[in-house]
Parts: sequence; structure tokens; C-alpha cells
Amino acid sequence: RVVAILKEFEEKCGTPTSKLMQVADAMTVEMHAGLASEGGSKLKMLISYVDNLPTGDEEGVFYALDLGGTNFRVLRVQLGGKDGGIVDQEFSEVSIPPHLMVGTSDALFDYIAAELAKFVAQEGQKFHLPPGRQRELGFTFSFPVMQTSISSGTLIRWTKGFSIDDTVGQDVVAELAEAMERQGVDMQVSALVNDTIGTLAGGRYSNKDVLIAVIMGTGTNAAYVERAQAIPKWHGPPPKSGEMVINMEWGNFRSSHLPLTEYDHALDAESLNPSEQIFEKLTSGMYLGEIVRKVLCKLAEEAALFGDIVPPKLRTSFILRTPDMSAMHHDTSSDLRVVGKKLKDILEISNTSLKTRRVVVELCNIVATRGARLAAAGILGVLKKMGRDTLRDGETQKTVIAMDGGLYEHYTEYRKCLENTLNELLGEEVSQSIVFEHSNDGSGIGAALLAASHSKYLEVLE
Ligand code: BG6
Ligand code: GLC
Repeated sequence: RVVAILKEFEEKCGTPTSKLMQVADAMTVEMHAGLASEGGSKLKMLISYVDNLPTGDEEGVFYALDLGGTNFRVLRVQLGGKDGGIVDQEFSEVSIPPHLMVGTSDALFDYIAAELAKFVAQEGQKFHLPPGRQRELGFTFSFPVMQTSISSGTLIRWTKGFSIDDTVGQDVVAELAEAMERQGVDMQVSALVNDTIGTLAGGRYSNKDVLIAVIMGTGTNAAYVERAQAIPKWHGPPPKSGEMVINMEWGNFRSSHLPLTEYDHALDAESLNPSEQIFEKLTSGMYLGEIVRKVLCKLAEEAALFGDIVPPKLRTSFILRTPDMSAMHHDTSSDLRVVGKKLKDILEISNTSLKTRRVVVELCNIVATRGARLAAAGILGVLKKMGRDTLRDGETQKTVIAMDGGLYEHYTEYRKCLENTLNELLGEEVSQSIVFEHSNDGSGIGAALLAASHSKYLEVLE
């Protein structure tokens, strides 16, 4: 019975190449639709107001706030100007207390502003800005935002377990500015960016061939450089560069080609955002462990995988986190002792047999493989839209993809599967022109860089 349930699950999760090609094509189609008109697609294809990526000439001291991943970060970066690179950098990191993720807007923003105040206070005598100069900040806010300028935008909706009704529809920069005032911090937000945009900017600073950024972390998303002419819904002045960076919000992608199972439907129905972020729920760190837990629960109930009774802890949603799933998946010991320990420590299931542990590893493999292969198909969709999925006249144009997020960084099997799958989909020749680059915490630095290139002092200098 165990084998039968597992087999059925594996079949339903199947991602043969032909299916991935359909997913990639559907992604490309939705990209076109999302660029054509507001509300034209599940893919919001949000305009970032970033029409120039960092050049390396950025100079001065800038701050960044990074909200929306596992950790909340405050950074200060000193940029050396022409080819000077990053001269100095300091950051502090905390995780957002869970009650603030579902509380009130004021409480969340007050917390952030208070952390910023602490960071600035600790600089003390060590560090000074030129007299009369206000501190400037890049705000990485990793949720869907309808930007109204480079430094303002309203929250469309929360994702990734945040749910604070009174922020939706509000300008998040105004929310932050008010909180900074309440907390006595004197700073100006010069750039508001999504983490994908920050990662793209940070990636470009160190490598001029970076054209795409993908986050595989708690959530998932991608941003890329689009030709302004290919954005019919953009009615603003044509950017001088002829380009505009687009925040796809691909986490909300959905297609009939996605291999959804009963467990995915249940996970979605029980989530804070039912029917939304379906691609994210199949591929990202917040959800992979939970899918595994759901299948284990079924195996316990219907096939007595863990004996006669269903272990009570197994019924607790989100108890099995993706980092634990990853640790079990990577267990190379002959008796799978990491798996045994995790089952005992987290789910209070002792004395599992080797056979049972093997089932758990297999399950992790099925769920991670499906997620990683679908993510690769998503990237292929973006490359297709950009015309970079084939070689032009035999010439190799290099495309670098800046990658970040805990899943990509720490879940090795997932990362390997994603990269191998993209290579498989592109074929040997083309895949040589595509490079993945881990842009570690690049999104905070990217936000600081964009704050620098949109500094209010820049015009005065010019
Ligand atoms: C970080 C970025 O490196 O990756 C964040 O600086 C981003 O802005 C994060 O949200 C995503 O990763 P995770 O795994 O923390 O969600
Ligand atoms: C979620 C957010 C998106 C973010 C992504 C990765 O999908 O909606 O804005 O980029 O997570 O952090």
C-alpha cells in the first residue's frame, strides 16, 4: 500500500520534458499578456521604474532595508565610485517576529523603523555623512507592489505568510516614512525595489552580462530586462536606455500544464492566500516541506507507514520545514540516521525502520525534483521571451542569471536539478551560453546601488 500511494504520487508529479516545454511556452504567453495590459494575465509583469542598471560609477554611502525573506536586514554600503567597488559594508539581521506578520501595518513598520534607528545609533562616532546631507535608503520590499515611481508604490497583496489587511492598497514607502518619523529616524527612501530587482541590480554591478534575476527562497520570483517597446501597457515617457526592468511576480503563474495533486489543492485551500501563488506553492521553500508532510500524513493514515497510530505531530501544519526536508534528502549515511533523527526530533516518531526512512527520502526527492524542474521551465519561458533560448547566427551571446534565496543557496539537490534541467531543455550548445551566478544577498546591495543612482543629491552634483 505504501508503495502504491508513493507511486501514484510520483506519477502525478511527473515533469517529462514535453510537459516542461508546455509550461515554458505558457509562461512566455502569459508574459506577453501581462505586458499588454494591466490585469491581462495572472502574471502581473510589474513595471519597476528601473530603466538603468548599476554601471559601477555609483558613489557615496547608502542604506538599505530588506524585508520579505527569512530574515529582515539593515545594511550600510559605501560605494567607491568609478570602478572603486564596495569600499565598506555593514549589516544587521533579525527574523521578523511571527505575530507581526499577521498584525497591523503600524506595528510591522514601527518594528522595522526601530531596527533602522538602532542600526544608525550604533554607528555612533565611527561613521559620519557629509554635514547637511540626509541619509538615503533603498527599500527592498519583496512583495507585489504597483510602483508609481522609483520611490513609491502600493501593495497589491501580501504573499509568503504575511497577512496584514490595512497595508494592502497603501503606499509602503509612506508607511515606512511615517514609522521612521514616529521612531525618530531621519532618512529618505530613494528607491523602492522588489528583491528580484535588487538582485538584478546587485548582480549587474559585478557582472555586466546579468539580464535575469531569479529568487528561489521562501517565495519565488523573477525579474528581467525588457525592451521598452515590448511593453504596450507602459504609457510613460520612453526610457533613454530603451529598456525597463520587469518584476514578473511569477509566483502567481498558473497553467493547466502544472502537475497539481490532491495535496497541492489541500495546501492551497488551507493557505492564507487560496488560489493565488500556485507556481510558488509548487516550487518554493515555504511550501516544499509542507507538501512532504501532507503526503507522509496520508501514508500514515492509509498505509500505517509509522505503525498503527498516526503520529499526532504529523498533523501539525508547517511543522516540517524545508531545511529539515533538505537535510533528510541529503542524508548519505548507510542507515539514514539523519532521517531517523529528524523524524524523532520534529515529529516524535522513534524507531523507524530503514525501509520507512527510504520512503521519506524518496518522497523528498519527488517533491524537490518536481519543484526544481518546474522552476527551470519557468526560466526557459523567460529566455524564450527574451529570444535567448537559441543561438543567433551561431553566435554565442552570454546570458547570466543572478540567483538568490535560501532554497537555491542551501538545498544542493534542488539547485543541481534546476540547473541540469535547464541545460537539458536548452540542449548542450545553447546551455553553454547560459550562466547561473549566485548573487549572495545581492538584493540589499542592489537596493543601495539603486538608491545611489536615484539620489536626490545627484542632480545637484551634475
Ligand atoms: C536574500 C535577499 O538574499 O534572499 C532577500 O536579500 C530575499 O531580499 C531573500 O527576499 C530570499 O531568500 P529567503 O530564502 O530568505 O526567502
Ligand atoms: C513572493 C513575492 C515576490 C518576491 C518573491 C521572492 O513571490 O510576492 O515579490 O519576489 O516572493 O522573495
